[in-house]
Amino acid sequence: MSGKRKWIIAGLLAAAGLAAVVVWRIRDESERVPEYVFSYAENQAADYPTTQGANYFAELVEERTEGRIQILVMPEAELGAEKDVLKQLQYGGVDFARVSLSQLAELIPEMNVLEMPYLYEDSRHMWKVLDGEIGDGFLKMADEKDLTGLSWYDAGVRSFYTSEKKITCLEDLQGMRIRVQESGLMADMVEALGAVAFQIPYSEVYSALQQGLVDGAENNWPSYEFMQHYEVAKYFTVDEHTRVPEMQLASSHTWEKLSEEDQQIIRECAKASALYERRIWTLQEKKSRKTAVEKGAEEIVLSQAEEARFREAVQSIYEKYCADSMDVIEEIKNMK
Ligand code: GCU
Repeated sequence: MSGKRKWIIAGLLAAAGLAAVVVWRIRDESERVPEYVFSYAENQAADYPTTQGANYFAELVEERTEGRIQILVMPEAELGAEKDVLKQLQYGGVDFARVSLSQLAELIPEMNVLEMPYLYEDSRHMWKVLDGEIGDGFLKMADEKDLTGLSWYDAGVRSFYTSEKKITCLEDLQGMRIRVQESGLMADMVEALGAVAFQIPYSEVYSALQQGLVDGAENNWPSYEFMQHYEVAKYFTVDEHTRVPEMQLASSHTWEKLSEEDQQIIRECAKASALYERRIWTLQEKKSRKTAVEKGAEEIVLSQAEEARFREAVQSIYEKYCADSMDVIEEIKNMK
């Protein structure tokens, strides 16, 4: 064999060897079966800030566990309304979820403290509370109910919106039928303002407004826009009566299956995803407000004097829900 042919054959063999290694590597990667595949329930649309936060969480976990833990985010209430998702989390039918505190407080009434009407001055005030010892203490409280609290998500501030009649003052709300979350506190708050509360799951609010079952509802700008409620309730009164934070949770049954190291990774990824969600939330609030108005919503700004009357009207709610925790309320108020 000539020297040149020998080199060619050697070159071909080396290339074939390299190709075999590459093919073996690719097969190995694609055949790697995750150790865990977990479900994650989310009741918002696929591109809503909290769902984007959940997707980021799932990506981070997959990356940090090198594919051993996969989390499948199911948006649009595919796994049920928040109330049912909480039950499923409790017995391990769903592994992870993000829920509104209003719903969680139905299971753990102490949580109501963090969503009292007009409790926080603004979002900065709320984050000071949730990012500190108080927030951590409430995350831990979820343990009592077979849940593991992981992080806090932003859901902005809620205001009323109505179909036929604008709300410009407290008198306008009297006797109005208002949809609220499936929450005793939210129902009582709306009734303290003189309206009649209807507890209806989130996914049914559009049709309740459209069919005239209720005269209005209350929520933040992104929910109002993403759920297209502006089409059936065009008067949005910026009264900002409450901030309801949201919690990212794991089922304790799922949690107990994990090693301490994986638990630590998941906690860190949840916190990182919460910071990410908070950033996109702030941008989305502005965008949604603009889009809703462009699409025909009318924004009504409540005068300061009226806002003071709204604040006054909900004071009785503090006596009913926070009689045993007025010290925490004071502490929160002093943190502004
Ligand atoms: C917000 C919150 C949802 C909740 C909804 C509601 O949009 O993010 O989790 O279900 O309010 O009013 O029901």
